[in-house]
Amino acid sequence: MPPPSSSATTSQTNRAGPTAAGPRPRRWGRRWCCPHGYARTDRCPSTAPVETLWGMSIEADTWDSELSGVARTARWTAAARARETARPDRLFDDPFAALLAGADGDALLRHFHTERAAADGNPVLPIRTRWFDDFLRGSVTPGCQVVGLGAGLDTRAYRLDWPAGVVVFEVDQAAVLDYKQQRLARVVNVARCERRTVATDFTGEWGPALLDAGFDPAARTVWFAEGLLFYLPAPLATAVATQAAELSAVGSRIAVDLIGTGIFRLRYMRPFLDKLVEAGSPWRFGTDTPAEFLRQAGWAVEQVTEPGAAGTDYGRWPQGAPPVAFPQLPRSYLVTAGRSAGGPGTTPDGAAAASDAHR
Ligand SMILES: C[S@@+](CC[C@H](N)C(=O)[O-])C[C@H]1O[C@@H](n2cnc3c(N)ncnc32)[C@H](O)[C@@H]1O
Repeated sequence: MPPPSSSATTSQTNRAGPTAAGPRPRRWGRRWCCPHGYARTDRCPSTAPVETLWGMSIEADTWDSELSGVARTARWTAAARARETARPDRLFDDPFAALLAGADGDALLRHFHTERAAADGNPVLPIRTRWFDDFLRGSVTPGCQVVGLGAGLDTRAYRLDWPAGVVVFEVDQAAVLDYKQQRLARVVNVARCERRTVATDFTGEWGPALLDAGFDPAARTVWFAEGLLFYLPAPLATAVATQAAELSAVGSRIAVDLIGTGIFRLRYMRPFLDKLVEAGSPWRFGTDTPAEFLRQAGWAVEQVTEPGAAGTDYGRWPQGAPPVAFPQLPRSYLVTAGRSAGGPGTTPDGAAAASDAHR
């Protein structure tokens, strides 16, 4: 089957907006309205009943059923962000997550909850989101480009403080981006940066769609692929990381999360993996050499860490990450890398590239 056609759209820019821990959308009678003064205050088109998710009201409507397969997983991770946002000790504040997750996202979060996960949810997802937030805050400079690969229902364009002149490209399937647009239009219509959506599919040529959206390969870029690569077959995951490197000017950076292969071998993971298959969104790719994965794609690796490792537990992983010597345990990796004039051997700031052997 040929990949879906690619298209690009641009949304408006407004530097004013909610702070990272700022006000949340609030319900106005049975309608959503924006508390920030720039969102729509007219009547919302939906007349669907209001439900509640993690203390925030949401509306269920026919859009809820129109995502399937891997596209639907975007609601699952949005629901995890909504749950985190409702915590008093939250690691981040995503005021739009509950609306985007909808009732379906909440159902997915419950469906994929594993027996061994903590009752209040798997800490990997909130830690991962916070880690990517921190990476972006530390990497993005005025005027640079940011590309979210498999951006899904990520709302960083609306919730982070971006330096002046930043353009954020959100790359994902058209169905996900359309759903997101429909839902967000109820509460907010301007991002806190210049936001452009790129509807494409990684199984086809996605570079041209990004270029059509105004991406400049000569400009410094910060890429992030959160919760994407393990849904792709191994050659495709490599191709996506390689294409990003080829489109990157010197000084560009990337952050990705990867899973280890142990997840696919452990018997107690099988019911969870089977549910993913049944949902049409199997995990397909894992690696026990995450640094080597990015190095082969043309990146100089700066850091490999894991949720729960020193500096990456955010107070949510008291038992610590499993020892490095046991790759067969279920592991997920958080990896950053850069593009330097010296190639994959040297990072953009001149340091020697990290390897799996030095974790
Ligand atoms: C688990 S969600 C993660 C979304 C978001 N990054 C987050 O952390 O919430 C995976 C995302 O990858 C996207 N995706 C997976 N395979 C894709 C493909 N072949 N082409 C385009 N997008 C894809 C899905 O549509 C979905 O939005």
